[in-house]
Amino acid sequence: MAVDDAETKNGSAWGKATGGALVTFEQVGYSLPVKSEPKGRKHILQDVSGYFEPGTLTAVMGPSGAGKTTFLDIVTGRKTQGEITGSLLFDGKKATKTFLKKHTAYVEQFDTLLGVLTVRDMLLYQAQLKCDRRESLQSKRDRVDALIVELGLSTCADVVIGDNLNRGISGGQAKRTNIGIALVTEPRIIFLDEPTSGLDSQTSCDVVSILRRLADSGRTIMSTIHSPTSEAFRLFDRLLLLHKGHTVYFGALHNKNGDASGGAVPYFAQLGLVYDPSTNLADFLITETGDKGEAANLKGLWQDSSYLADAKKHQEQLLLASIQLQANSAEAVTYLEHNMFSAVGVLLRFRSRANCKCPDFIMPRIIPSVFFGFIVSTLYYGAGGKAENPENISARGNVAAALFMSTVMPAFTAAGYMPSIVTERPLFYREQSDGCYTTGSYLLFKVIEEGFFHIFASLIFCLMTFFLIQLPGSFWWHWLLNFVTGQVGIALAYFCGSLAPNMDGANTLLPIINVISMYFAGVLMTYDAIPDAWKWFPWVTFMRYGWTANMLNNFPAECEMPLLAATPGCPTEYWGLKEGSSGLSVENNFGALCGFWALWLGLTFLVMTFVRHVKR
Ligand SMILES: Nc1ncnc2c1ncn2[C@@H]1O[C@H](COP(=O)(O)OP(=O)(O)O)[C@@H](O)[C@H]1O
Ligand SMILES: [Mg+2]
Repeated sequence: MAVDDAETKNGSAWGKATGGALVTFEQVGYSLPVKSEPKGRKHILQDVSGYFEPGTLTAVMGPSGAGKTTFLDIVTGRKTQGEITGSLLFDGKKATKTFLKKHTAYVEQFDTLLGVLTVRDMLLYQAQLKCDRRESLQSKRDRVDALIVELGLSTCADVVIGDNLNRGISGGQAKRTNIGIALVTEPRIIFLDEPTSGLDSQTSCDVVSILRRLADSGRTIMSTIHSPTSEAFRLFDRLLLLHKGHTVYFGALHNKNGDASGGAVPYFAQLGLVYDPSTNLADFLITETGDKGEAANLKGLWQDSSYLADAKKHQEQLLLASIQLQANSAEAVTYLEHNMFSAVGVLLRFRSRANCKCPDFIMPRIIPSVFFGFIVSTLYYGAGGKAENPENISARGNVAAALFMSTVMPAFTAAGYMPSIVTERPLFYREQSDGCYTTGSYLLFKVIEEGFFHIFASLIFCLMTFFLIQLPGSFWWHWLLNFVTGQVGIALAYFCGSLAPNMDGANTLLPIINVISMYFAGVLMTYDAIPDAWKWFPWVTFMRYGWTANMLNNFPAECEMPLLAATPGCPTEYWGLKEGSSGLSVENNFGALCGFWALWLGLTFLVMTFVRHVKR
């Protein structure tokens, strides 16, 4: 692997000598419709101008709400709504999606890590998803190993990341791992949103030191930062200071970079805002540009300042140089991305393998089946054998009830599969924005992963119920029907999880649908008794097809086994199962269940594609 001088000097083999890229932005504005605003439109950014230069570390600062995150979202192409104005160029050109994906990285404010993976596996998982598919696993491994050294994560490389309940690595290590996720593609430009928030001063300083080294290796680094220590702040080269969406200063921070401007301190001093060197410079800048300072004036003063004129001149020179440089180096980027199935392969290999070893993941998926299997089997113990006696009508009713509970139970226990869709949402959004996989890949991965566990869960349930209740039908149909009904239940749970904005909403929606469905599933009301206005509902109730198929598996469709002494014919006839189902055939009802499975998964796919719960 190619190692450049700067990296060797820093004791790390990570990163090729890719160099950065010049990012220039002029009068960037952003507004979006907001009803509560006087003109029905909120202008979040109005005039953000400046540049990010290769080899430099730029701080974007401003009071809370100044528009820092909004600006970052715009620069990284993450905005999904609103109107963006102004110019934004990468090496003098508009960036394509491929350019952004290949050459830029965005470290968002909140960590999106998988608690079950170790630091090394998390980085390798991201490398597998994001890097060229043709690169060998060993090469990616080597790169991840070097990155671990670069980020100072060697001591915790094989420690599980953990989460709120299961302690794993420390906050600082998690933040560095989060930065590592962005670095696996060896990007030329790195944007970070408040990478030090929530960290103690020493850990913050360590993180900024990493950014400093990345900048020294030639990359373009830009980070929003909040209350850095003096020591950490000193490591930055330039400052873009925002107030209410306006630039109030852009230029050298400490006048050490050869900028024409003399730095932030002399600039503000000439405006009468004198900095006391015994205090924290970052705090001074935030206080003076906040509501306390003469903020309204600062934007006008900046527009008229010689510092701005100098910055523009310098930007023009840089732009010219970068365009000439490009003309001399024809860059041919060939980059093979994952297709839908290879991405699923990576997800299964890393995430499912880790989940298979995690009791917190396995238990909610297996325990309910064991528990309910035990309850149903012991409650209806031997009912199947007794039902063979033509005189024993109550045993026949019990078998029907046991089959009913076996059908509706998987739909209810599917609630256990729902949280992952909601809790993984920030990770899903981030990985999708990073171009790791498509919605289809993610959904297919979930279906395969959950399906795998569900095979065992339903097998346990069916072994218990079939043999203890002594059901007369086919075991294989019993299992298959239970499995598919459960899969429809899980797909429905996914639909609720993806539609609801949060866990509370999902937890409310799923039981409502399931309980309503229960009324029409068969046993609680015969078809004839359903009021005419509701007679359509059984046809759209998957549980009804499941129970009908289960009944037909155990009671012949045409038989002389009355359910009630006064009613001739079969139990299936008594409940009117011919109506509101696919008729008196196990296969047809099974087919209908498969149709519901596809339907709910299809709807989930549409919701995940078109409903964004996080608007940016
Ligand atoms: N989608 C949105 N709808 C309405 N207001 C928004 C939206 N996004 C951001 N804002 C507002 O824009 C301002 C800037 O937000 P942000 O960029 O997150 O600030 P910062 O990162 O500097 O704290 C805030 O007042 C915020 O409330
Ligand atoms: Mg922010």
